[in-house]
Amino acid sequence: MLRTGITSVSKRSYTTFKPLISAAKIRLNKLSEETGSNIYGKAEFMNPGGSVKDRAALYVVKDAEEKGLIKPGGTVVEGTAGNTGIGLAHVCRAKGYKCIIYMPNTQSQEKIDLLRMLGAEVYPVPAVAFDDPQNYNHQAARHAKSIENAVWTNQFDNRSMALPVPQEKSQGKTQIFLADPPGSVLYSYFKSGGKLTERSGSSITEGIGQGRVTDNLKPDIELIDDALHIPDEDSLEMIYRLLDEEGIYVGASSALNVVAAVKMAQQLGPGKNIVTILCDGAYRYQSRLFSKKWIESKGLTNAIPEHLKKYATLD
Ligand SMILES: Cc1ncc(COP(=O)(O)O)c(C=O)c1O
Repeated sequence: MLRTGITSVSKRSYTTFKPLISAAKIRLNKLSEETGSNIYGKAEFMNPGGSVKDRAALYVVKDAEEKGLIKPGGTVVEGTAGNTGIGLAHVCRAKGYKCIIYMPNTQSQEKIDLLRMLGAEVYPVPAVAFDDPQNYNHQAARHAKSIENAVWTNQFDNRSMALPVPQEKSQGKTQIFLADPPGSVLYSYFKSGGKLTERSGSSITEGIGQGRVTDNLKPDIELIDDALHIPDEDSLEMIYRLLDEEGIYVGASSALNVVAAVKMAQQLGPGKNIVTILCDGAYRYQSRLFSKKWIESKGLTNAIPEHLKKYATLD
């Protein structure tokens, strides 16, 4: 999701979210010059677990502790495309909890390897729709129920991880745009005023598309001013451009956000300050994103400009 700032219209506390507000912002110089607006990326890939989801991981565990849902020596169970799991694995090690992760088996090997290295017990399961009882989230929920002193942190419907929204938003100075990949329902949901949840295609981005409108997003939909649908071709090209032009090595969701930031700059006209989130680094996807064979298997070879193909060095 693309945000131009951070706060809450509904009086959520700012102080607890201080790190989120103060995370490093990087000005993307070339894209800023091209658009005539300042485009910044929040460097969430610099977090301890390497992604924006470290924040969510910390808050869902703190929330479970505050509600008495987990006691010392307990187990945290979560369904995740990987990033929240990696954050949870760090938090659990620090706090002495066991960490059990269910994830779709379509996710990159790098994330599975890292989770296991951090001490998590990982169950890659077939990727099936949310309404199927075998969906990774439901399997995580059942596992947590089946053992003593365990909590399913339920990241997608857990309001304790809702982001604060910029104060300027309530004063009409800030606009928030949502950036959505193919295969996700959020673009059509927003554009149809909540009537449609159309879903077509799939995406090379991992973990950011949604097949449903989750509880942690629903109440904040009204804060969104516009939505942008970003094709994979644009996201892949931007991964390579960011590496070449800005010296930044980030994954497909960050690239998707930056493409959206550029489109937003074009839509709003020059002289704006636009902030988006650089969600995570490319390291955890590099066997895919920089593999000629994998890119070809996705039919995306032509998305990479000729002069940037030199970065696709893996077979
Ligand atoms: C880069 C990225 N990957 C994945 C996710 C989804 O979280 P998870 O990996 O835990 O499913 C998000 C959520 O914002 C994200 O920003």
